[in-house]
Amino acid sequence: MPRIAGSVENVPNSRIRELGEMALSMNGVLRLYFGESNLPTPEYIKQAAVRALAEGYTYYTENAGLPSLRRAIAASYARLQGVELDPASEIVVTASGMQALNMAIRCALDPGDEALVLTPAWPNGSACVQMANACVRQIPQPLCGERYAIDFGALEAALTPRTRLLLYTSPSNPLGWVATVDDQRRLLDFAQRHNLWLIADEVYDRLFYAGRGPGDPAPSILRLATRDDAVMVVHSFSKSYCMTGWRLGWLIARRDAASKATQLNEFVISHAPSFTQRAGEIALAEGEDELLRMLDRLKENRDLCLDALSSGTGILAPKPDGAFYLFPRIEGLDDSFDFCRRLLLEERVGLAPGVAFGAGGEGSIRICYAAERSILEPAMERLLRFHRAGR
Ligand SMILES: Cc1ncc(COP(=O)(O)O)c(C=O)c1O
Repeated sequence: MPRIAGSVENVPNSRIRELGEMALSMNGVLRLYFGESNLPTPEYIKQAAVRALAEGYTYYTENAGLPSLRRAIAASYARLQGVELDPASEIVVTASGMQALNMAIRCALDPGDEALVLTPAWPNGSACVQMANACVRQIPQPLCGERYAIDFGALEAALTPRTRLLLYTSPSNPLGWVATVDDQRRLLDFAQRHNLWLIADEVYDRLFYAGRGPGDPAPSILRLATRDDAVMVVHSFSKSYCMTGWRLGWLIARRDAASKATQLNEFVISHAPSFTQRAGEIALAEGEDELLRMLDRLKENRDLCLDALSSGTGILAPKPDGAFYLFPRIEGLDDSFDFCRRLLLEERVGLAPGVAFGAGGEGSIRICYAAERSILEPAMERLLRFHRAGR
């Protein structure tokens, strides 16, 4: 009997999914395990998709995505990040941030290569490295006081002659940490000195609470990189526009990598759905007011949850500057999956276990605070009750 190839057999399960699947089979669960809001996609985006269907956006598009959408992405980088991009050669539309991440990694790694990944991190990056038959070296970000840092010593120590890539996420899922310009300068310098690709997952860049003005994005690595740097940026419509189910994202890359990713797109999915791409274009053009409202709500939610957690003993919850997660560390916790499983079964609160996020994640739990207050308030109450009871 032919067997499943060993290389894919070894790709681990997402433990967020494992918990999520368990919760999906149950009723009455307060669902804070996936990285999404329970609010629907805004009406103006849905209507844009309906119009696009009526207008005939039902055929194949270019592998790199609709030129008009690529121009809209370039325009939004010029406006928000002060970065000029060539829509014809540096932007590839993808069917999700997940696909952009996968293609970026495939373009950077050969089988047997090694990738450094800053963790705790969304596990899918590490899994993609494994799907490319390459090896992951996870480098935990230490908590220094109230802020996460980057352990450059550990990064240097993990280098081998096969290291080809450094992947980091800012704003971070699950930490909410946002790389400062100085952090980015050092990451870029590290990658340049060691001849590595640098992949920045920036899917949460619009969910940033520490900007100078409302709606300021977290600074992109593209502000520092030149067009010739081996830098790729992964992005998505999922988080800023409540479009998780639509599967639409993009990749920004050096021209040769963008061109290769465009070609590979043909053999993966050909292109993102045509009418979805049109809706994404409208989201970028008209979404600012809705996004600002969402940011206000998210900030309130973050503060509500932090406030609730501060009343629990032995819970350390650093205040995040971006994304929509809290990643509290719980004193004495050494099996976060079991903690989350029991919390789900006994209190009907679904969270993601810290262990799912790789090295440095065990001992914490991830709370997605993008849900409404009517869900967050009882969820915090039940979590604290469960914790107090030492269950
Ligand atoms: C850090 C990070 N990158 C990428 C993604 C992918 O988003 P999507 O595939 O929905 O576009 C997610 C989703 O949770 C994420 O948290």
